[in-house]
Amino acid sequence: MRNIILIGFMACGKSTLGRYLAKDLGMDFLDTDRMIENKTRKTTVEVFNEDGEEAFRNWERIIARYLMELQNKVIATGGGMIIANHDLLKQSGTTIYLKASAKTIFERTKHNYQSRPLINYEDDKKRLSVIQKLLSKRDPFYNYYSDIIIENNGKEPYNTILEIKKGLGI
Ligand code: S3P
Repeated sequence: MRNIILIGFMACGKSTLGRYLAKDLGMDFLDTDRMIENKTRKTTVEVFNEDGEEAFRNWERIIARYLMELQNKVIATGGGMIIANHDLLKQSGTTIYLKASAKTIFERTKHNYQSRPLINYEDDKKRLSVIQKLLSKRDPFYNYYSDIIIENNGKEPYNTILEIKKGLGI
């Protein structure tokens, strides 16, 4: 079986649902942010702060190339990874966009936005507006590069997993 690749904005549920889905399907789970952390021995925040966003994006490219060699994995990608790596990711598996609204993302990141450099703004209004702007910029790409789109605003994970499996025809 080809890989199953979860794409979408920060905090749309890629890692949480990816883990559930992998367990349900008896497949291994991988998270590209954790893979970069293992390679660099730094947190993603440290990579951004110490080496810069470009360095982080270079790591994403390296990981995307590596994913091409794998099969039978459920893979949660970082929120920006599909943009510059759609060529490789789409070859290595079926892409599923977990689509969440700016409001959902704002609520889900209320207590952990500090671990996400692109939305690390203390002021709620500013953070919401950054989320809205970045999401509206990226949403067309997520739509375009996904084989399947699953809406994920406040649903029970179990139901979302069922929808994903239905979408995959399994
Ligand atoms: C990013 C999303 C983050 C992480 C990095 C950049 C992005 O991953 O890769 O902070 O560009 O949207 P999550 O989507 O898992 O939060």
